[in-house]
Amino acid sequence: MAADPQSDHPIGQLADERVDHRFKALPPDAEGLTVGALAAQRRNLFTGGFTTPVLALSAESVEHNLALMEDYSTRHGLAFAPHGKTSMSPQLFARQVAHGAWGITVAVPHQARVCRAFGIQRIFLANELVDAAALRWLAGELAADPDFRFVCYVDSLRGIELMDAALREAGANRPVDVVIELAAGDAARTGVRDEATCLDLANAIAAADTLRLVGIAGYEGEVPDANAERVAAWLRRLVALVVDFDKAGRFADLDEIVLSAGGSAWFDTVAEVFAEVPELSRPVLKLLRSGAYVSHDDGHYRHLTPFNRHPDEGALQPAFRLWAQVVSRPNGTQAFANAGKRDAAYDLDLPEAQVVRSARDGSVRPADGIAVTGLSDQHAWISTEPGTELEVGDWVGMGLSHPCTSFDKWQLIPLVEADGTVSDFVRTFF
Ligand SMILES: Cc1ncc(COP(=O)(O)O)c(C=O)c1O
Repeated sequence: MAADPQSDHPIGQLADERVDHRFKALPPDAEGLTVGALAAQRRNLFTGGFTTPVLALSAESVEHNLALMEDYSTRHGLAFAPHGKTSMSPQLFARQVAHGAWGITVAVPHQARVCRAFGIQRIFLANELVDAAALRWLAGELAADPDFRFVCYVDSLRGIELMDAALREAGANRPVDVVIELAAGDAARTGVRDEATCLDLANAIAAADTLRLVGIAGYEGEVPDANAERVAAWLRRLVALVVDFDKAGRFADLDEIVLSAGGSAWFDTVAEVFAEVPELSRPVLKLLRSGAYVSHDDGHYRHLTPFNRHPDEGALQPAFRLWAQVVSRPNGTQAFANAGKRDAAYDLDLPEAQVVRSARDGSVRPADGIAVTGLSDQHAWISTEPGTELEVGDWVGMGLSHPCTSFDKWQLIPLVEADGTVSDFVRTFF
């Protein structure tokens, strides 16, 4: 949804926020304008007064990625709850919902609150929720809005005990829907390690009035030494568990059974294995939770995306480009640009120098012979092959690796059209 100053929807109201020093890279001469007014000016990213470093999000690529995953999930019979922790941008959440998403996945209570503050009606919290203050808040949200749907993980008896106690204490009048998380292996992250313990948890949930078991979930992204075979084998355990529980009548009171898995690295295998789910007593909501796809990237996910295995199904487009300015060129093989760890994802890979925009005439050329070799807090260390043209003042355009740790460094990100026109701004809430 575009920022719309006329709207009384909380997302529209983001357009009323004032542009000032809180937001990195925004034009100093726009100080005091509203975000909506600045967007309406349709300034150019390079000549419109933005300061460096500046992170740009391609308007066309984001739209392409939203539409591609909408088509993909529809084609494969999957419902979609994109992980919101990637962008933490309510504007993008709204666009994901407009592109058919069932709701939004989150990891922690604060992220659920951001969703609710911006009108998200279905939230899947892919974690055990044992925080009494958060459960009190949740009970209030559920009581206030009969249409609000919330599902979260449980992975322990102690967790069930804590949830039940907190919800009782809060006077919860609707049970909280939970799915049992099956771990993606013994050496994996959270989740119940074996099926027998899942059964114990299901019995404990059945005995707690404050909770309702609605299905089974997990995260194949944590399968140790993942390959298609291991991921499929683990997903089949997830499916077998849901089938066994259904046969045992554990879902008899439900309208639908929830079965959820899927980040951005293995959604093809999720689609294949979930297609094997036999007819159950209730319709099955097969919920995919990819998050990184929204901006995709130029590193980690470029290598991992299932579309590499299935080019016939389309391709995601990397949507971020970080522009930094060369502030030092001490010799023929070194250069330093003014973007560092505060500005670029660096947890998985370093940024990739892709293009150089000349400070002399604005021409853009490939960053041949130019590589980022390290990041300080506020500097990119750049090595250049001897003879490479690069001078102080030039802008270096870099691709990033890992969407989640790119979005979180920027609170107001220009959405930029192919010709450099800034058409809107994406607000994030981390
Ligand atoms: C539980 C869970 N589900 C879904 C996702 C989304 O995966 P991705 O970031 O690959 O899109 C993540 C990411 O860490 C996750 O932890």
